[in-house]
Amino acid sequence: MKIISEPQELKAYLKEQNKTIGYVPTMGALHEGHIELIKNARKENELVVVSIFVNPTQFLKGEDLDKYPRRDEADKKICELAGVDVIFFPTKENIYFEDEVKIEAPEVRGYVLEGATRPGHFSGVLRIVMKLLNIVNPTRAYFGKKDAQQLNLIQLMVRHYYMDVEIVPINTVREADGLARSSRNIYLTSEQRKEALKISASLYAASKMISKKEFDVQTIKEEMLKILEPLEIGYVEIVNREFKPINDVEVGNTIILVEAVAGTTRLLDNIWL
Ligand code: PAF
Repeated sequence: MKIISEPQELKAYLKEQNKTIGYVPTMGALHEGHIELIKNARKENELVVVSIFVNPTQFLKGEDLDKYPRRDEADKKICELAGVDVIFFPTKENIYFEDEVKIEAPEVRGYVLEGATRPGHFSGVLRIVMKLLNIVNPTRAYFGKKDAQQLNLIQLMVRHYYMDVEIVPINTVREADGLARSSRNIYLTSEQRKEALKISASLYAASKMISKKEFDVQTIKEEMLKILEPLEIGYVEIVNREFKPINDVEVGNTIILVEAVAGTTRLLDNIWL
C-alpha cells in the first residue's frame, strides 16, 4: 500500500497506473461504514484510493474540528487489511491556496436541514470534494447514504460541473442495536448512547407506519417526535429524493431524516423509502 501526501505526486502516480479507480474520501477514524465503502470500491475497480483529511473548511467556528478523532496509524492498518492500494493524506497547507476560487453550495438545498443548523458547512464539503475528485480523477467515488444531503449536493455538483465520475451511494451500516455507524459515536457515554438509539427507533417506527399505509407526513413526524423525546432535535424531515418537502410519502422517492443531539454530540440518521 502506497501513502502519498502531495496532490501532484498522487495525480502523476495514478495517471501512470492507467487503471479504473475506486475512490473513498474520508476524514479518518475509519469504522465499518467506511469499510463497506472500501469493499464496494474494491469489488468494482482495479485500484482503490482512500483519502484521509479532516477538512477544516467544513467545520463552523466552535464545532469539533480540534477534537475530531484522529487515528492515522489505526486507519492505515484498516486500509491495508481492506485491500486499499493508495492512501492520500493531504495537509491543509498542500491542498488549499490563499485567496482561492471557491465553489458554493446552492442557496436552497445547501442551507436547509443540516445546512440550516450549520450554514456554510456544505460549501466547505463541496470545495474539498471538488479538489479531491480532480486530484484522484476516479472512475467511481463512494459515499454513504447516511450523509444523504451531502450525497445529494455532491451528485448535483458532479452534474452541474460536467465532472466525469460515477458517484456510488452506499447503504448505512448500523451497530447491532441499530445505531448508525459514525466517527462521532465515540463521543457518546453509555447513557447518551442509549438515548441516541431513539433516533434509529424513530426511523423504524416511521417505516412501520408506512408499511401499514400511513403516508401522511405530518402524522409520521408527530409520532417520530414523540419517540425522540427528550433528545434535542435539530430536525425531523421527510423529503423526496430531490430534497423537496412533501405532504405524502411516495415509496421509492422519499427520504426521512433526523438530526438530534445526544449529550453534546450531533447525530444524523435517515432511511430511504
Ligand atoms: O463525509 C465525510 O467524511 C466528509 O464530508 C468528506 C466527504 C470526506 C469531505 O471532507
